[in-house]
Amino acid sequence: MANSPKRKSRIGILTSGGDCAGLNSAMKWVVKTALDERLEWERGIQYEVIGIRDGFKGLYSTEPASPDTEGYLVPLNQEMVRTWDRYGGTMLGTSRFSPYDPKNDTSKQVIENIERLGIDALVVIGGDGSLAIASRLSDQGVNVIGIPKTIDRDLPETDYTLGFDTALNVITEEVDRLRTTAGSHKRIFVVETMGRTAGWLALEGGESCGAFIILIPEYDFSIERLNELVSEGRRAGARYEIILAAEGAKPEGCAEFVKEPGTDSFGHKALGGVAEFVAAKIREGTRLETRSVVLSHLQRGGAPSAFDRRMGRHFGIAAVDLIVRQDFGKMVALTNGKTGAVSLKDIYGKVRRVDVSQHYDADRYNGPRSILHTES
Ligand code: F6P
Repeated sequence: MANSPKRKSRIGILTSGGDCAGLNSAMKWVVKTALDERLEWERGIQYEVIGIRDGFKGLYSTEPASPDTEGYLVPLNQEMVRTWDRYGGTMLGTSRFSPYDPKNDTSKQVIENIERLGIDALVVIGGDGSLAIASRLSDQGVNVIGIPKTIDRDLPETDYTLGFDTALNVITEEVDRLRTTAGSHKRIFVVETMGRTAGWLALEGGESCGAFIILIPEYDFSIERLNELVSEGRRAGARYEIILAAEGAKPEGCAEFVKEPGTDSFGHKALGGVAEFVAAKIREGTRLETRSVVLSHLQRGGAPSAFDRRMGRHFGIAAVDLIVRQDFGKMVALTNGKTGAVSLKDIYGKVRRVDVSQHYDADRYNGPRSILHTES
């Protein structure tokens, strides 16, 4: 037809790894931008977008598992995704399935499936584990674009990962709730946050909610110093204290606390238990009533904050811009307030952790008290 765009191209999209807020917004904007009719004419390409359920597991098992279950492939259109940005979690489902799992390498099958399904470009919305998979697929010739997401905000080469801001809001709101009961009983609450081996969530969550002490994985704490700080606080008239402990925080000379032995198929340990340990040590050392609370997956739940919705939008649109330019092997990123792109190779196997000299007061176990002095 004389008036129709010249080429047709199929985009596959999936979410992989832990869910968080902002994923649905990113997917909505990939779909809306790819299927935008006005842009279609300008580009001379007609895109279609196929959602892949349950992360890379869906790309491995492209056929329905049984007649009762739905297939793993969902053609997406603008009407379907219209309201998605308002909701948490992921409308496509997710999994921690790695095609490169050393115990069961399915990468050959996954790449064959990508070809068989005619997927010209694959958008992977993921954290470090999922984007490492994306990078390896890219090395093997798959046209991949990554969108960064994780409440841990521990990916290098980007100032933002979807889900972080909403998780900070959850921490702040939950601590506000704890304050009333802590104050009523003159108790100490040790609140455990997620974040794996990076302290961003505890540090910025602690700064947002005004925690008395913040323990992060990047600085091993001394139990003696901790109890000294708590006792000082009480002497200064504090009625109660809120202590935030990142799940990866550990006392000097100890390994991090794990909930179960071994690692998942992304090579991650299941961390947890530090808050309970710290609470017991404070009770023992100060005789003050101390309780622990683990915020756990609450931090990944709920409706996305305004910032996550907007960043999901920008990242989704930028991902399609890269596809249009055929600039594959990239992850969209936020750098100094601007959305751009970086090479997936540059983030492979790296984790961005808190720089203690810049962002942490190692004496007070809290955020720095001199901002202008520490900023370069
Ligand atoms: O990476 C995101 C994260 O929420 C971490 O902060 C946490 O350690 C982990 O995932 C929990 O994973 P799961 O959902 O498998 O329990």
